[in-house]
Amino acid sequence: MESTAYQGLQSVIWSGSHLDLLDQRLLPEEIVYLSLVSAQDVWEAIRHLKVRGAPAIGIAAAYGVVLGSRDAAGEKSAWLQAARDAAAHLATSRPTAVNLFWALDRMTARAETLAASDLDLAGSKEALLQEAIAIQSEDEATNRLIGEHALTLFQDGMGVLTHCNAGGLATAKYGTALAPFYLALEQGISLRVFADETRPVLQGARLTAFELQQAGVDVTLICDNMAGMVMSKGWIDAVIVGTDRVAANGDVANKIGTYSVAVLAKAHNIPFYVACPLSTIDLNTPSGAEIPIEERSPEEITEGFGKRTAPAGVKVYNPAFDVTPNEYVTAIITEKGIIRPPFDVNLKALFADL
Ligand code: MRU
Repeated sequence: MESTAYQGLQSVIWSGSHLDLLDQRLLPEEIVYLSLVSAQDVWEAIRHLKVRGAPAIGIAAAYGVVLGSRDAAGEKSAWLQAARDAAAHLATSRPTAVNLFWALDRMTARAETLAASDLDLAGSKEALLQEAIAIQSEDEATNRLIGEHALTLFQDGMGVLTHCNAGGLATAKYGTALAPFYLALEQGISLRVFADETRPVLQGARLTAFELQQAGVDVTLICDNMAGMVMSKGWIDAVIVGTDRVAANGDVANKIGTYSVAVLAKAHNIPFYVACPLSTIDLNTPSGAEIPIEERSPEEITEGFGKRTAPAGVKVYNPAFDVTPNEYVTAIITEKGIIRPPFDVNLKALFADL
């Protein structure tokens, strides 16, 4: 992989014997790597947001299948069953990001091919590990391409708003929505980024502001309810966000609050871009109505950071994601280029060309 100015923290590292995983719950205060040794460790890390962001969840889960099957002994069929069981368990960790299921399907399919091959058990285990490593390194290359395509949409001096964290921390490297900011830095293009803090668990404040500031990108943190104000001031020329799943018709699921930002962008005549790898596009889900939306615990809202901020026992609704209907989406930026409406036709064509 070519060397670049990007020096961000890596969220998932295969150590050779286990997974070193950056605990993203502790950022920006503490940089702590957890040592994960089992599929259950990975399940818990995904479930409790120690690793989060659609591509990073997929990468971690791929290694989870390796960890969950590596102790199998005897017949290769027992190893295959262990891999399948680990994948089935990991698939229950979170429901919305399709990259999780994409990575698990890819790992299971590879294990099936290996189980039917002439390779012995040790060789098959090693080849399955190589598949997880490939998923991770392909994500890095993919994100760089996404960044290159996205950067063609921005000019020097522009203000760009983003929501949640679709950066290096959420992926193997660079991020999706944040990739163009890192590439702009390399090329001396100056962009002003506005990061929504992203209630309730503050991925924008804790992660996006952190990684962009570390890299030297001009970033300004705002509360979610300030997006309309900064748009009305004329400070925002474009919005770019990541996504957890794009439906076949171009509806986009992303972190809760994204839909509001898209509506505000339309009201202010500001383009609303979505950046993602092909592995986030799910042609099997016809529209946003069929995307499963995760609901998380009320405590994220009532006492998210250790201090109670609402009366005990109050009713809470806490969906982790929302769906932005395709009519609000100006373009979807993938490693294969910039896709514009009609999304139902153009997303399908993207896969037909592969
Ligand atoms: O709950 P999270 O932190 O996993 O939500 C993450 C997002 O919504 C990201 O925007 C999305 O996964 C894209 S990451 C490149």
